[in-house]
Amino acid sequence: MSQASLKLPNQEPALGLPTSLARVAGEVGTIRGADGGVRERTFADAPRAAPAPPAARARATLALRKVSKHFTVDGKPLEVLHDIELEVADNEFVCVVGASGCGKSTILRLIAGLETPDGGAVLLGDTPVTGPGLERGIVFQEHRLLPWLDVEQNVLLGLDAVKTLSAAQKRELVREHIALVGLEGFEKAYPAQLSGGMAQRAAIARGLVAKPQILLLDEPLGALDSLTRTYLQEELLRIWRQESITTVMVTHDVEEAVYLADRIVVLDPRPGRVRTIVDVRLPRPRSRGHAAFAALKEKVLGELRH
Ligand SMILES: Nc1ncnc2c1ncn2[C@@H]1O[C@H](COP(=O)(O)OP(=O)(O)OP(=O)(O)O)[C@@H](O)[C@H]1O
Ligand SMILES: [Mg+2]
Repeated sequence: MSQASLKLPNQEPALGLPTSLARVAGEVGTIRGADGGVRERTFADAPRAAPAPPAARARATLALRKVSKHFTVDGKPLEVLHDIELEVADNEFVCVVGASGCGKSTILRLIAGLETPDGGAVLLGDTPVTGPGLERGIVFQEHRLLPWLDVEQNVLLGLDAVKTLSAAQKRELVREHIALVGLEGFEKAYPAQLSGGMAQRAAIARGLVAKPQILLLDEPLGALDSLTRTYLQEELLRIWRQESITTVMVTHDVEEAVYLADRIVVLDPRPGRVRTIVDVRLPRPRSRGHAAFAALKEKVLGELRH
């Protein structure tokens, strides 16, 4: 049975992990591949510079050009995405919203190289994406931490496919990223000993540890209570700034999208199409109580209801 013909959330391509681990981990979408020529980044990098302000964003890091995708369900073709056009600039934070089943996760999986488009192309710079690559990290909706590994070991899985680093260098990267997500002191904790928010942090550390240029987040905060969620939204913004990383995040929560994103891609369902892209020109930190914030939220909700 082909990879694309059946959706099995816990079975992803091997992604350089031992197959048994990869099946469960799924999330470590970072191995060698097209480098896209978008930005030099080595594992020996010092902590990254502060991100350029939005006005200085120039080149498109990532582009989807007329991307179409269908799956075969019950022997029949199901058109899931139709002519998706999207450019994401270096350091941009883009959120994708749309009805359940409209193809949001499929878009992330196409960018991650876990699915192949039927038509069109996903480009990093000028280079088509042909599979997973170290320059893209993905964090799935469920944290998919391996229950028998502690936080440190789970984050280390994100470097499993990296053959150019010594064990000491990998340990240092793991330490750095556990600190980045605020999990210091919990290195030896097992997933069952973490709260939901902490588990998501560990998953985010695993998605970031290979220092991708592009971070793909599939509803990373969806399962959390609103207080933890609000807190982790701040944390995501901090990491985005600190790491200077291009981010594409799927969310069901329009308020979350307005709070986080530079632009919000609104999808129409069946098949998934870009309905509109809303610019969020609100200065950060954003105030949810602000009239302009509420107006933008209404605008996006209006597009979704249309
Ligand atoms: N591997 C697959 N095989 C068959 N159909 C699939 C596969 N992956 C996704 N689909 C179908 O494609 C459509 C889009 O799925 P996708 O997971 O991208 O939606 P989504 O917008 O992320 O939904 P949700 O908000 O519920 O997570 C759905 O109809 C789904 O059933
Ligand atoms: Mg989804």
